[in-house]
Amino acid sequence: MESVQISADASKKQRYDELFPQMKGLLSGETDLIANTANFAAVLKSSFDFFWVGFYFVKNDELVLGPFQGPLACTRIQKGKGVCGTSFAKAETIVVEDVHAFPGHIACSPLSKSEIVVPVLKNGKVVAVLDIDSDKVNMFDQTDKEELERLVTCLEESF
Ligand code: SME
Repeated sequence: MESVQISADASKKQRYDELFPQMKGLLSGETDLIANTANFAAVLKSSFDFFWVGFYFVKNDELVLGPFQGPLACTRIQKGKGVCGTSFAKAETIVVEDVHAFPGHIACSPLSKSEIVVPVLKNGKVVAVLDIDSDKVNMFDQTDKEELERLVTCLEESF
């Protein structure tokens, strides 16, 4: 696959629907987690108007920065800290409408205003989290939660 095609003027739900089979095809041909998280981040960043898209991997019970697209980011996040560490600790998706209202939010960039973090599971355990930041408040809703969780299943099934 050389590129992913998404209708620029379609609704958010439609763009996710167009993306899903392409993401599934892209990731199912490869089992390496670094390769697949790198392409996952690149495809999401170019398909939506997100500020930062990337992964943190669980290593020795903390999160360590993995492949991402966007400005440089903090390299390590402790379990339970910030939005990413909370998603890791609870093994659930966290949607933050306004990062300044989230206690303990870790500001890697002052431009980040809203955020969603989706855990990546293997055998019932969190092995990574997908973190997406927006420079607009209230960017993420229930549609993003459901669709990003669905996209992450493509990743979980690939390795
Ligand atoms: N804001 C995140 C930290 C990671 S960066 O946004 C890339 C958090 O609170 O966990």
